[in-house]
Amino acid sequence: MNDGFLPLTKRPRRNRQSPAVRALLQETSLDPRHFVAPFFVIEGSHKKEPLPSLPLHFRFSIDELLKELERYLKLNIQAINLFCVIDPAEKDPLGSKAYEKDNLLQRAIRSIKKEFPHCFVCADIALDPFTSHGHDGLINGTTIINDPTCNALAEMALRAGEAGCDMVSPSDMMDGRVGHIRKTLDKNGLFHIGIISYAAKYASSFYGPFRDVLQSSPSFGDKKSYQLNPANRKEALREIALDEEEGADMLLIKPALTNLDIIKEASTLTHLPIGAYQVSGEYGALKAAGKEGLLDDKAALYESLLSIKRAGSDFIFTYAAKEISELLLS
Ligand code: PBG
Repeated sequence: MNDGFLPLTKRPRRNRQSPAVRALLQETSLDPRHFVAPFFVIEGSHKKEPLPSLPLHFRFSIDELLKELERYLKLNIQAINLFCVIDPAEKDPLGSKAYEKDNLLQRAIRSIKKEFPHCFVCADIALDPFTSHGHDGLINGTTIINDPTCNALAEMALRAGEAGCDMVSPSDMMDGRVGHIRKTLDKNGLFHIGIISYAAKYASSFYGPFRDVLQSSPSFGDKKSYQLNPANRKEALREIALDEEEGADMLLIKPALTNLDIIKEASTLTHLPIGAYQVSGEYGALKAAGKEGLLDDKAALYESLLSIKRAGSDFIFTYAAKEISELLLS
């Protein structure tokens, strides 16, 4: 007998035995400045509509969005991604409200930039919030037609650029749209407006709550002819390489937690900044599990964001930006 002690020389627990040593050795940490907060904007004033499918989130009229944004900025969250939500009666097959002059997107960007010039404003570029059929592109019968969609997306990006956004974030997955948007912005003198491309966006069931918020579920078919097959890796790497070639400034992978391998690989393949989008279903599922008492949702969100960062994300689009930033400051 040796009093219960084993002849171990290597004891990794030595490096975990106090809060100080654990803090000393922490390799990855979260910072509110690395979050991009998604916001949903609607027409009208004094509107703040709670979203049952996305706890703690709202559809805001522009005036109310500004008030919420002030709270975010105080927490050091300085980047946002804007989605427009319009009345279903205003939607049409061409998604006209996406690119008409003085549209909701332009007015929202102008108001935000006027009030908070230092806020980094990204405008999500896709047609699905505006089309009556809910697809990200224009259609011919039941086919999503690529090239005419790119023209419409470039127009939409131009509207966002004219209004003064910092970057546009195309989330549609049409071929060649990054290059086409780049050319269109440049032709109009908007060289300084960057592109965060959703480079590897998978056809995922985790977008459920988002589609509920926008009432944008496709009225026919699905999005598998333009979003990636979740079974595939090479397809993602090819999209990432193409978007880089076409002139993207930053690349986004989504969903995040189901694609940590892709985030890791992308971060070693390209020198462009890599972001990940922790999408509505990833957030909603953890919030729902918390509500059911199955786990501590804040702790689980914190842990999942850490893993996304550890996999190689430089920045993260997340609905948890506010609550996790509050946690980090507490
Ligand atoms: C569509 C778009 C989607 C999301 C962002 N842009 C949904 C979809 O492709 O149907 C999902 C974001 C989320 O789930 O949080 N252009």
